[in-house]
Amino acid sequence: MGLIFLIPLFCFLFSPSHADIAAKPGVNYGQLGNNLPPPHKSVELIKSLKAGRVKIYDANPRILQALKNTDIQVSVMVPNEIITAIAANQTLADDWISSNVLPFYPQTKIRYVLVGNEILSQPDNVTWHNLVPAMRRIRKSLILNKLKKIKVGTPLAMDCLEASFPPSSGMLKKSVTDSVLKPLLQFVNRTKSFFFIDVYTYFAWVSDPVNIKLGYALLQPNVTSYTDPVSGLTYTNLLDQMLDALYFALKRAGYPDTRLFIAETGWPNGGDVDQIGASVYNAAIYNRNVVKKFTDKSLKGTPLKPDVVLPSFIFALYNENQKTGPGTERHFGLLYPNGTNIYEIDLSGKTSESEFTKALPAPTNNEPYKGRIWCVSERGANGTALGGALSYACGQGNGTCDPIRPGGKCFKPDSVTWHASYAFSSYWAQFRKSGGTCYFNGLAVQTTKNPSFGSCKFPSVTL
Ligand SMILES: *[C@@H]1O[C@H](CO)[C@@H](O)[C@H](O)[C@H]1NC(C)=O
Ligand SMILES: *[C@@H]1O[C@H](CO)[C@@H](O)[C@H](O)[C@H]1NC(C)=O
Ligand SMILES: *[C@@H]1O[C@H](CO)[C@@H](O)[C@H](O)[C@H]1NC(C)=O
Ligand SMILES: *[C@@H]1O[C@H](CO)[C@@H](O)[C@H](O)[C@H]1NC(C)=O
Ligand SMILES: *[C@@H]1O[C@H](CO)[C@@H](O)[C@H](O)[C@H]1NC(C)=O
Ligand SMILES: *[C@@H]1O[C@H](CO)[C@@H](O)[C@H](O)[C@H]1NC(C)=O
Ligand SMILES: *[C@@H]1O[C@H](CO)[C@@H](O)[C@H](O)[C@H]1NC(C)=O
Repeated sequence: MGLIFLIPLFCFLFSPSHADIAAKPGVNYGQLGNNLPPPHKSVELIKSLKAGRVKIYDANPRILQALKNTDIQVSVMVPNEIITAIAANQTLADDWISSNVLPFYPQTKIRYVLVGNEILSQPDNVTWHNLVPAMRRIRKSLILNKLKKIKVGTPLAMDCLEASFPPSSGMLKKSVTDSVLKPLLQFVNRTKSFFFIDVYTYFAWVSDPVNIKLGYALLQPNVTSYTDPVSGLTYTNLLDQMLDALYFALKRAGYPDTRLFIAETGWPNGGDVDQIGASVYNAAIYNRNVVKKFTDKSLKGTPLKPDVVLPSFIFALYNENQKTGPGTERHFGLLYPNGTNIYEIDLSGKTSESEFTKALPAPTNNEPYKGRIWCVSERGANGTALGGALSYACGQGNGTCDPIRPGGKCFKPDSVTWHASYAFSSYWAQFRKSGGTCYFNGLAVQTTKNPSFGSCKFPSVTL
């Protein structure tokens, strides 16, 4: 008797409600690394992080196969390059769905087809105007195949806003409001989909670390608060502030009830010497706080929309060594490429802060580096490629490479690696202020160790 009575109660207590499923963050499974585990192993790792959903940047058949018969909800992506073609031709949309969705559905729980990635941040404005037409065609194909349950969206970056501070002044980017964003909002509303947004407090903080408190960007409790003078709403963290700027912008455009879906958020666990705040410590704090916010019923929502559930994907599963740009780009992972955790994290939100047992390494770069920095050849860099980068660097600026010409003070040792190191340092010292980087397709790396010797002096950078 007692046992029979207990069973329904037990089920009630332990079957997650819809809200729980929606709130549990997923993870972005980026694949821009040449050392990443294969799909079946990655799926095991995604499960070990207790991610409720996964987003991929294509429709890789091996990954979709590996996700079959799991409980993980999946978001696939139509590549940017074919948007214009799809916008013009329904057959292409049908073909895309036939080859990338139908072979895996429903065993693979595909729930979202995202059309393109941050299209409005790309220079090609032809694609901008084909975005919504392509989304309509993809949606039409899904309906044709009776897959109405799969939502269609497109993730945009925060540069879709013209104004964001104070949040109540939030406004969509004027130049694309009527041509792209309003049609997109109309589509999202009509199809009961979401407005997908990539939102990083990290980049906002980096752009103004003097006025924005780090703890406010990391969602630490009780750091500071900001009251919007127009709305009167009070913010205790930068993520809420940024999301409300977007909500205000959507309201101003006539779509106040649009549902948001955080397509990416995260914090880098490492980066270059000249970058600040990118550390294992800060990444762990941010991502744990984000998980807590999205899964704790008392913290969810934003001051403007306190009751809405914010579904999300954390960026990213792995540190990806083939991403280009500054070092932070290659350090957003929850996991190293060998599959081990960079720090403890539980995306289900069921592990409290005190249950994480391993001490985090103290951050050392919350403030700009104070010494000199040089830019040298990466150890083991491909000699042929290095030669090309050397000529490029020497071709820029005035006298960039004079000291490494025969007879110059830095000519010896006469090796490509040495000459490239000089050229990279010299180039970077001249051009960093105007946007030059120490990257050279991964052939260059920053160092705090002065490579100069004897009368050969390498140019350096100070922040
Ligand atoms: C649309 O694409 C299909 C498949 O590639 C092609 O056969 C067809 O000619 C295209 N139609 C138009 C109007 O371009
Ligand atoms: C696209 O960009 C080009 C070059 O910047 C510009 O001349 C053109 O007006 C733009 N077209 C639209 C539709 O925005
Ligand atoms: C669509 O817009 C109407 C009018 O603003 C609103 O009442 C409705 O809730 C919206 N639906 C969705 C799914 O956003
Ligand atoms: C933050 O402030 C609230 C209310 O003022 C308090 O209950 C809470 O313990 C504080 N948290 C921390 C971590 O100081
Ligand atoms: C995985 O990689 C990290 C970073 O390179 C390293 O510190 C760690 O020891 C590796 N773990 C294993 C089990 O190989
Ligand atoms: C080295 O770089 C050159 C030119 O970029 C390329 O053609 C070659 O395949 C590379 N070699 C190796 C071993 O990666
Ligand atoms: C190079 O030097 C010339 C003359 O001193 C100057 O006009 C020019 O702007 C310099 N170029 C760069 C890239 O610094």
